[in-house]
Amino acid sequence: MRDGAVRTATGALQEPHAGAPPSLDPRWPLRQGTEVSTHTDLGLPGALPERDRLALRRWLLASIIAVFFAVAVGGITRLTESGLSITEWKPVSGALPPSNDAAWAAELEKFRQIPQASATHAGITMAQFKWIYWWEWFHRNVARTVGLVFAIPYLVFLAQRRIPRGLRVRLAALPFLTAGQGALGWYMVQSGLVERISVSAYRLTAHLGLALGILAVAVWTYSELRARTDDERRETVGTSSGWRAALLSASVLLGITVLSGGFVAGLRGGKVFNEFPLMGGQVVPPGYGTLTPWWTNAFENPAAAQFHHRMLAITVTCFVLVLAWRAREAALPHAVRRAVFAFGAVITTQLVLGITTLLLAVPVPLGVLHQFTGVLALTAALIATQRAIATAAVQHRAGRESVQLQTADGRKYSTQ
Ligand code: HEM
Repeated sequence: MRDGAVRTATGALQEPHAGAPPSLDPRWPLRQGTEVSTHTDLGLPGALPERDRLALRRWLLASIIAVFFAVAVGGITRLTESGLSITEWKPVSGALPPSNDAAWAAELEKFRQIPQASATHAGITMAQFKWIYWWEWFHRNVARTVGLVFAIPYLVFLAQRRIPRGLRVRLAALPFLTAGQGALGWYMVQSGLVERISVSAYRLTAHLGLALGILAVAVWTYSELRARTDDERRETVGTSSGWRAALLSASVLLGITVLSGGFVAGLRGGKVFNEFPLMGGQVVPPGYGTLTPWWTNAFENPAAAQFHHRMLAITVTCFVLVLAWRAREAALPHAVRRAVFAFGAVITTQLVLGITTLLLAVPVPLGVLHQFTGVLALTAALIATQRAIATAAVQHRAGRESVQLQTADGRKYSTQ
């Protein structure tokens, strides 16, 4: 066996081309610094250096945990009505809290100038103000930390040439989008500083949506970098296009449900019609469609927003449960089947949590848990969809018996 030989996707050994082609076999691992092209299936052993794959996975996992934490703290900040307590945006110097009594008094005075202070926090004391201030301050600093968790390892990995070429732009988006999320957060806060007593539901939902967009990129890539086990690679069955389309549709529908939840939260829609399954004794709540133009009801009428949210939630949950039921017997790779079951379990939990949250008129712990589990459901959806797409792609490539690799000097290799 000559040094640098390649094992093809079908398992056959292939002697090297001119030069030393990179290996797809773990026994001939790639050297660090080997650049891998976009087309390479990163789940195959030897598709990129094992140390790099593990390092990237650990980094992405830490980032995902950090985003989850930031989303949860953001939820607490909103539910405790703390989000408007810091009335300025100082991305760097704002990391430090007020340092003495005079600085605290100045902060409280600025807060007293905004309409929400007299409407929601009338007669607020310094101790009460400090409590809400600390939540917002903590939320902003968690967000700063998320930005650093994305940016610093990214730059280090980039300098070490450990990021596959096809992932560089995608992963660079993570720190940039996080910086954009900070700006969007401030844009949201601004909407609650004059005239209004709470922030715009549109901006709140955009802020939630961008957080989930960032999470989606990290989760998808983390799942792509998962090494396929020997058993998985031996599996002959791939995911059919029907299953791939079904899982993609469920993920999109879930994404829309989550965003509709943002509008319910932004419009305080959980404080009206605290009943299930009917709303005000009717399926379609009284007051539905009272705003003009009609489409603004979905985004500005709390009853309509809640009605849409529950309808979407029930639809997507039923859809995923049907998929999970059919997955028991369907010809699917095991990893996909497991992911579909997990998706079904999380979304069912989320449905029950949503109803409980509503019936109890959104107590803070349940509101946060409902938001957190919504994000978890989206994570489960993305993992199931990514696995479905990856297993179909492997089958396709195995059919062509070709995997593309590219080395640091730009030479391209094919295993066939
Ligand atoms: C697939 C199922 C569901 C998903 C993925 C989901 C997701 C979400 C999300 C992401 C939010 C926004 C949380 C925030 O920004 O703080 C939300 C809010 C909300 N959801 Fe759901 N939800 C689901 C089911 C339900 C159901 C069945 C109900 C009740 C019938 C419900 C009631 C609520 C309420 C009342 C809020 C507002 C809570 C607040 O003010 O913080 N949800 N949902």
